[in-house]
Amino acid sequence: MDGKKLAGEKAVESVKDGMILGLGTGSTVYWSILKLGELVKKGLDIKGVPTSKSTEKLAKELGIPLVSFSSINQIDLTIDGADEVNPNFELIKGGGGALLREKMVASISKSSIIVIDETKYVPNLGEFPLPVEIVQFGWEVTSKQISTLGCKPELRTKNNSPFVTDNGNYIFDCYFEKIDDAVKLNTRLNMIPGVVENGLFVHLADTIVVGKRDSSVDILY
Ligand code: A5P
Repeated sequence: MDGKKLAGEKAVESVKDGMILGLGTGSTVYWSILKLGELVKKGLDIKGVPTSKSTEKLAKELGIPLVSFSSINQIDLTIDGADEVNPNFELIKGGGGALLREKMVASISKSSIIVIDETKYVPNLGEFPLPVEIVQFGWEVTSKQISTLGCKPELRTKNNSPFVTDNGNYIFDCYFEKIDDAVKLNTRLNMIPGVVENGLFVHLADTIVVGKRDSSVDILY
């Protein structure tokens, strides 16, 4: 069975009536959102905070009530995917380009569940290129500054043009050989003028739900 579907659906078992819920972005949390849509139809009383325009659209189609990020101070639980997770629960996110809103939502969440298939649970971060969201102005200069941290940044493109995020920014996919110190790299990247946010999530995940090929699910705390 599909590990993404298994993990996505399993995480929804932690959702309770009355919760304000962060709704992540991507093909794994898609299954969580679908399940939530079913439960809402059966009477589950929640409000969702979407982390991207695509998740907002999906949640609306499914009839999940939404609340705007600007009108709340705290989120009870966020369910989101990731591109890589290491045993310290440090994550690489942003493969789908939604890392900025995802990090903002995670930062005010009392609790965060990350849903992944087993291929994404890795001993070391960095095989997946780290997404870094940058302002469009002077992106060539920002690229040079980011590369001094030991990576090769590639401007993400879509249909032969730069990919533009929901926030009107560009993304570099940064090729590091291996990320040894995610805490330090997170800080150093965000100190570069022109960088808006990066896809390293540290201290932002409490539970990892891993869907496996053999149809079992591991829940890591
Ligand atoms: C979106 O920008 C990302 O952070 C996703 O959460 C991450 O890329 C995981 O996506 P999938 O579940 O589609 O692999």
